[in-house]
Amino acid sequence: MKILVVGNGGREHALAWKLLQSPQVKQCFCVPGNGGTALLERCENIPLAVEDIDNIVKVALENQIDLVVVGPEVPLSLGISDRLQQEGIPVFGPTQLGAKIESSKSWAKTLMAEAGVPIAQGETFTDAAAAKDYITQQGVPIVVKADGLAAGKGVIVAQTIPEAHNAVDDLFQVGFSLIVVEECLIGEEVSILALTDGITVRSLLPAQDHKRIGEGDTGPNTGGMGAYCPAPIATPDLLQRVDQEILQPTVTALRNRGIDYRGVLYAGLMVSPQGEPKVLEYNCRFGDPETQAVLPLLETPLDQVILACVQQRLGELPPLRWQSGTAVCVVTASAGYPGKYEKGKAITGIQEAETMGVTVFQAGTQLDGDRLVTDGGRVLGVTAIGQDFDEAITKVYQGVDCIDFEGQYYRRDIGHRAQSRKS
Ligand code: AMP
Ligand code: GLY
Repeated sequence: MKILVVGNGGREHALAWKLLQSPQVKQCFCVPGNGGTALLERCENIPLAVEDIDNIVKVALENQIDLVVVGPEVPLSLGISDRLQQEGIPVFGPTQLGAKIESSKSWAKTLMAEAGVPIAQGETFTDAAAAKDYITQQGVPIVVKADGLAAGKGVIVAQTIPEAHNAVDDLFQVGFSLIVVEECLIGEEVSILALTDGITVRSLLPAQDHKRIGEGDTGPNTGGMGAYCPAPIATPDLLQRVDQEILQPTVTALRNRGIDYRGVLYAGLMVSPQGEPKVLEYNCRFGDPETQAVLPLLETPLDQVILACVQQRLGELPPLRWQSGTAVCVVTASAGYPGKYEKGKAITGIQEAETMGVTVFQAGTQLDGDRLVTDGGRVLGVTAIGQDFDEAITKVYQGVDCIDFEGQYYRRDIGHRAQSRKS
């Protein structure tokens, strides 16, 4: 089988790496890929933008690709799956309409409300004055969200009324025409990445991301600074409830709207101190960096699971097999991220780290001749597997300590919630 992976992050490196482990997968192409996918055996980068759907379809046809796996939300929301399906190319990832579950928060909230899925109470606004009145009535803390894709910058958790009012003005000013204002939920977050063929849903092991740049979950939001899997907050009871009360009803609601959703349904949940889960948001794709912590534990060949989704026979697949133990991924970033940062810094120590038993997934990297250099904000995702959480944590930081580039920044406290849960 020849597979084309769309995207250039750590998530796509992990997807290509995992897919290539399957005896069925002969070759992988990444569009555009990064330094990590360029170095993978039997993998080739194709330098096209992820939004360049016409040319991606052309490349898939020319190379007789058997399956396309789409990483990021932007091409999905632009309809890449619709276009590939029209050409008869099997694709894992929802259609443009299905991707609205991520690209429109108001659409997703209406769908979830219809399905009886627990969510934060809120309202949708097209007008700043009405949104501000509502905020003043409700009080703080309160959450203001852009309705469209905003690369992680569209959610403001406001602690004061002026902050919430400013957030409303800012979002309308940058061009959003619809915003959502909703109650601020408290608790602990968990990411449930589920795979679906439009009928059956199978959850992957639960993971926990670390969205803030600073240790102790401080500072601005990022794409994610580290993840671990499985996350102990997601007990078997909770996972069963999430399946029955959240994931299954969502897939049914999608079907009722005529949406045949074949791809990842990623539920970002807040679990209250009483253990009640509510959906903060849905994403229509694999999480990054969650994927770099989840996939290394998966023993069932990934291509088999994905093909079962694409061919709508996920229900026939035996339960997914998982390696026991814990995986931890620590992201290392360029100085200045998530703000301005420089590129082109030489990266050293990856091989030394890998000889210590970690896997280094590359994100913002590229090959400059035979030198590997930084090319983005999040640069690497270093993943270790341990028999337990403590072993994985020790191992992952031993790996990270081998790696260097000018200005490298990473959090030393990945997994702190799992640590404090134990103690
Ligand atoms: P998003 O950009 O949609 O991934 O949301 C980013 C983050 O905002 C989430 O991971 C939460 O930490 C936070 N968030 C979103 N909605 C709420 C809410 N209703 N209450 C509390 N925090 C929220
Ligand atoms: N790790 C958060 C996301 O993928 O959206």
